[in-house]
Amino acid sequence: MRAQPVAAASPSASEPPDLDPSGGGPATPIYLDHLATTPLDPRVLEVMLPYLRENFGNPSSRTHDFGLHAAAAVEAARGHVAALVGATAREVVFTSGATEANNLAIKGTCAAWAGQGVHLVTCATEHHAVLDVFDSLERSGQGFRVTRVAVDHQGIIDLPALAAALDDEARLLSVMAANNETGVLQPLEQIARCLQGRNVIWHCDAAQGVGKIPLDLRRIPIDLLSLSAHKMYGPKGQGALFVRRRRPPLRLAAQIEGGGQERGLRSGTLNVAGIVGLGEACRLCQQERAPEAERLAQLRDSLQQCLVHAFGAAVVVNGGAAVRLPNALNVSFPDSHVAELLPRLRDVALSSGSACSSGADTPSHVLAAMGLDVATAAASLRFGLGRTTTLEEVEWAARRVITEVRSCGKRQRPYVFSPKPNQP
Ligand SMILES: Cc1ncc(COP(=O)(O)O)c(C=O)c1O
Repeated sequence: MRAQPVAAASPSASEPPDLDPSGGGPATPIYLDHLATTPLDPRVLEVMLPYLRENFGNPSSRTHDFGLHAAAAVEAARGHVAALVGATAREVVFTSGATEANNLAIKGTCAAWAGQGVHLVTCATEHHAVLDVFDSLERSGQGFRVTRVAVDHQGIIDLPALAAALDDEARLLSVMAANNETGVLQPLEQIARCLQGRNVIWHCDAAQGVGKIPLDLRRIPIDLLSLSAHKMYGPKGQGALFVRRRRPPLRLAAQIEGGGQERGLRSGTLNVAGIVGLGEACRLCQQERAPEAERLAQLRDSLQQCLVHAFGAAVVVNGGAAVRLPNALNVSFPDSHVAELLPRLRDVALSSGSACSSGADTPSHVLAAMGLDVATAAASLRFGLGRTTTLEEVEWAARRVITEVRSCGKRQRPYVFSPKPNQP
């Protein structure tokens, strides 16, 4: 199967309005990189501030009101995080972010299996905070075998290949909720069906999904789930790992040892302001997620239609036929030299891949796994819309991108999709 450009624009789609020659228009730069990080919601900052000022107590100090007050705030936040994903407060372990949560989930689970010839299964398009952990376990000499299951041209995990990978030695599966480059959602319910009757622990990196799509852990049998505050209008440096309470219990080896906080799973004095901020961010997402998702999907669709209208088959919407995050759009311009585009788009903050790899020269492993050739993957833009994004901003961004792409030179080599690379 070849990757198809997404169907032509709907009849109502049109070029975005011309830029205002008088210099009017939205305030620039316009921030359209909300998959890399979101701004702190002012309402979140408001509830955090007292914990950076007068309420500075250490929640482990149970002998005075300073500590007790901080501990109560931490527990209230734990409740908000749990409520957003259908968990109980006791199932939430605070970490410094999704990277740490992923490391704790994967290394912490695997610690008990060293030397047992265990098989670990993940997906080729995971974030490096998952893939690199599996790479290091594979190299560790402790007998871990890793399968990275392929995706199709839309970025969806190959379910028959996943089912085949889940052999008798398979003990851990890590598949994300939503991809950080394309926004493509993985079919969690079908993955759950593949796991039925198997003794496999399921970890899910949901850093991009939590707060944007409905995720109910009472319905989906994920055992370990990572989330991050700065992807949902909370502070950077704060995240959490959901650890399901079940029989037999999940046994995780702590990766950071010391004072025994978080029931020994993650030592270190708690970042009270960060935790309070994460809790408030979760509370707001729970209240506002559904209408906001609808608004963002409309804006994203109109941005997509503007680009498809302007470029037709010369633009590919990566993952455009899949179910995606409402705020995500990833496009490639296979015939254009757009690699130099971003420096010229100073007034629109975009990304050419995941934030973590956008500084590197290597093309996106996600787009490569979806079958894009190196040059086409390099000629891609990632838009991430957010809570403050307006139609005016989207139209401005569309016009600016159209203008700059049209002024880019044509690529010498015609556009062809390479055969899908073999999975390592
Ligand atoms: C899917 C995914 N997982 C993990 C991370 C890392 O999260 P954090 O920045 O909280 O460590 C990110 C951030 O880009 C992400 O998008």
